[in-house]
Amino acid sequence: MNYRVPRTRKEIFETLIKGLQRLEYRGYDSAGLAIDGNNNEVKERYIQLVKKKGKVKALDEELYKQDNMDLKVEFETHFGIAHTRWATHGVPNAINSHPQRSDKGNEFVVIHNGIITNYKDLRKFLESKGYEFESETDTETIAKLIKYVFDNRETEDIRFSTLVERVIQQLEGAFALVFKSIHYPGEAVATRRGSPLLIGVRSKYKLSTEQIPILYRTCNFENVKNICKTRMKKLDSSTCLHAVGNKAVEFFFASDASAIIEHTNRVIFLEDDDIAAVADGKLSIHRVKRSASDDPSRAIQTLQMELQQIMKGNFSAFMQKEIFEQPESVFNTMRGRVNFETNTVLLGGLKDHLKEIRRCRRLIVIGCGTSYHAAVATRQVLEELTELPVMVELASDFLDRNTPVFRDDVCFFISQSGETADTLLALRYCKDRGALTVGVTNTVGSSISWETDCGVHINAGPEIGVASTKAYTSQFISLVMFGLMMSEDRISLQNRRQEIIRGLRSLPELIKEVLSLDEKIHDLALELYTQRSLLVMGRGYNYATCLEGALKIKEITYMHSEGILAGELKHGPLALIDKQMPVIMVIMKDPCFAKCQNALQQVTARQGRPIILCSKDDTESSKFAYKTIELPHTVDCLQGILSVIPLQLLSFHLAVLRGYDVDFPRNLAKSVTVE
Ligand code: G6P
Repeated sequence: MNYRVPRTRKEIFETLIKGLQRLEYRGYDSAGLAIDGNNNEVKERYIQLVKKKGKVKALDEELYKQDNMDLKVEFETHFGIAHTRWATHGVPNAINSHPQRSDKGNEFVVIHNGIITNYKDLRKFLESKGYEFESETDTETIAKLIKYVFDNRETEDIRFSTLVERVIQQLEGAFALVFKSIHYPGEAVATRRGSPLLIGVRSKYKLSTEQIPILYRTCNFENVKNICKTRMKKLDSSTCLHAVGNKAVEFFFASDASAIIEHTNRVIFLEDDDIAAVADGKLSIHRVKRSASDDPSRAIQTLQMELQQIMKGNFSAFMQKEIFEQPESVFNTMRGRVNFETNTVLLGGLKDHLKEIRRCRRLIVIGCGTSYHAAVATRQVLEELTELPVMVELASDFLDRNTPVFRDDVCFFISQSGETADTLLALRYCKDRGALTVGVTNTVGSSISWETDCGVHINAGPEIGVASTKAYTSQFISLVMFGLMMSEDRISLQNRRQEIIRGLRSLPELIKEVLSLDEKIHDLALELYTQRSLLVMGRGYNYATCLEGALKIKEITYMHSEGILAGELKHGPLALIDKQMPVIMVIMKDPCFAKCQNALQQVTARQGRPIILCSKDDTESSKFAYKTIELPHTVDCLQGILSVIPLQLLSFHLAVLRGYDVDFPRNLAKSVTVE
């Protein structure tokens, strides 16, 4: 946004579009922006929305086709907002893209990152009050809600930030929001909870402060308190309000510093529930709750990073960033679906088909690469919880065999991209034979999510690195959640279900603990990176861990690596074992523990020097280990989520040490759309 720095409309466009392009690496499927229109009669009270499906470039082209958009017109103050979308609710198209609006007159417009988990209740409420919805998004609820709060305000001169304050009290889930309104021309209000948001500050003049004190305000929630079940609390108030500056200052709101770094490196990072408002040239930040940090102010910080670095944060590759994102991505997969109080799981995209699924003859779970491994990893727990036969299939092989499929089969298609040709063809094959088809993808609006009868969006966030990491753990959890939903009524399974749900709850924390082993794993990589081969061995719940770990190593280090089922060791692979061959053994405290000990004996008896991934409390295995990586313990069927992470990290460090481009391995593509 600009404040008191005259800018032409063309400059405003360029700033917004450039900012979006800087964020495009996160994934995109549509983009949009809102700026002040130049209809002379209603000048300053007219918001022009331009939205387009596809890349930011398409939006850029669209801007210049608009009528009534004088590019040379100059604004003394102006506030424009823009957004590039990666769909979570609703297919990618212009209507579902952001900004979302309150009504046809664009009285309030909003852009949103994150997911509002109670949007259905809010939407129902607002529809009952006569608000008409045009999109399928959770975000539109926010635009309508602010209009509702505005329409029901108790005084005429209510502040824009007060409206936003009331709105966010009703929202559950994660958000970073920026609002614009014709009722508050030139003003901006932004807020966040769970999703990042920062404010860039650019000024030629010395600012009056480097710290923005926080204003705490008491709210009157009378007119909105019925929307949500939670009772509103009254909070303390104080009265400080401070301006950053009021002359020739420009403020930039962004979810990521990469969008604004070319304008300024001076930024304020907002905390959860901060509400930042710019009005009359002044920035103020207030809250209705004391902040977690209890810091009474937000400092303007100077960023030292280069643009490229910021896009990847402190990580050297997207793959590494994505590995470290897993505590959050795993949480996002479960958010709004697993109720830890009632021990229930609700996957909204499957609930209408649940009866039919429960009646089926068998489940067939189909995928390629990592997605196939997620199916292997969860097969046992699915068999246990659904009490149905479960087949797991590589899409290409499934098609090659002309596998018999029947009307009473339920077929799952696991695909991060939702576009993999083999998986898509298998889907069409099953559909033709009358089976019920279920998509499990990370991409709303993808071919697989379109063509399946129903599905689950894994909500892992965009995955850029070709070697899939966070999508695997989120696919894994999505399938476990499906099993839990299927078994809700089985009395005999209640204790087991509770155990698994408790396990899910503690996963994000345990993943953080595993990630803290990074340095140790780096040291291990230093020992191994010159080897030609690496075997990964295990069984039971962790067979898939071995397949997936070996695939990661192959994909990005170009070493030969094999995931071996320990039960098959004596039927062939044992011949490979000697003093030189590096072997990683995954041995967890689960029903296969004793059998894994046998395999360990067989390896050490041939002078093998096993590197063992084991539970923290496992003193037995470590006696025979050349090296151990000790992992926190969780419920057996979820252990694979923790045990795969050291292998993801190991493959990453091996690839870096061998000098390869981790994110773009030779000969491979992120999404393989040919058979
Ligand atoms: C490609 C990628 C793999 C991925 C596989 C399946 O081969 O390189 O990383 O696991 O496709 O992709 P999907 O998008 O269907 O999960």
